[in-house]
Amino acid sequence: MTETFGPDATSGHVSDLSLHSLRQGYRAVVIGASGGVGSALCATLRRDVRLGVLVELSRKNDGFDITSESEVAKQAASIQGAIDLLICATGVLTVDGTLPEKSIRQIDPNVMAKQFLTNAIGPALIAKHFLPKLPRYDRSIAAFLSARVGSIRDNRIGGWISYRSSKAALNQIVRTASIELCRTHPRACVVAIHPGTVQTPLSAPYSRGHTTVTPLQAALNVLGTLERLNAEETGSFLAYDGSAIDW
Ligand SMILES: NC(=O)c1ccc[n+]([C@@H]2O[C@H](COP(=O)([O-])OP(=O)(O)OC[C@H]3O[C@@H](n4cnc5c(N)ncnc54)[C@H](OP(=O)(O)O)[C@@H]3O)[C@@H](O)[C@H]2O)c1
Repeated sequence: MTETFGPDATSGHVSDLSLHSLRQGYRAVVIGASGGVGSALCATLRRDVRLGVLVELSRKNDGFDITSESEVAKQAASIQGAIDLLICATGVLTVDGTLPEKSIRQIDPNVMAKQFLTNAIGPALIAKHFLPKLPRYDRSIAAFLSARVGSIRDNRIGGWISYRSSKAALNQIVRTASIELCRTHPRACVVAIHPGTVQTPLSAPYSRGHTTVTPLQAALNVLGTLERLNAEETGSFLAYDGSAIDW
């Protein structure tokens, strides 16, 4: 776990983005901090002059595996104080070298199970153990990185059946959790968000012909959208620009 207290004064950057909708000195947790989007989110948050504490968690650097409930529970318990901003930036598209399916003939139950474990069940465990740490009455944001291809209505070309369906499951988990949470945490915004097609190892083999953005631009887009969310939008499935995506 890496903890940063306050903005990175050594970066020499004027903050690109400041989360004014959260309280001054807000406390943020990014899970999947080693990933392309996750590390860019952390770099951007570290430059926010309003940041109080940033906790970065990752499998690569901390051995934090979101699919282990005991680890998720332990990490959540170790966070001191309320979490004003929670971002789960984990995800997998290629499982142990197996590329996403082009046809239902390629479905492999072990690969499919791993997709669901990483993309849906792991984030569900994060929701179970970390959402209760959002402040009861103050504004807070919890964002789970999803993917537009998880949209059922938007699916026009097929393929990627395991990834698509695991992200659709994630969307339902986020929506369900948001409904429960708003009864006890009326100002919390819990959303699934598509970061765009981002230049990271996850998408590199598939991004040809698509408009792509750098991880830093994706981080700015995602954080800008989270900043503008209001509590009525909790439970939404959004794109990086704030537009709603059909379920
Ligand atoms: N890149 C895109 O174009 C794109 C498009 C749509 C949606 N998304 C979504 O955006 C999110 C971030 O993607 P990315 O492009 O940043 O991917 P990435 O660079 O491959 O990063 C994936 C992250 O997930 C972590 N992770 C995977 N399994 C984990 C586990 N069991 N426990 C803990 N951490 C785990 C990885 O951790 P370690 O490296 O530490 O093992 C890494 O930090 C994903 O949910 C992805 O589906 C990305």
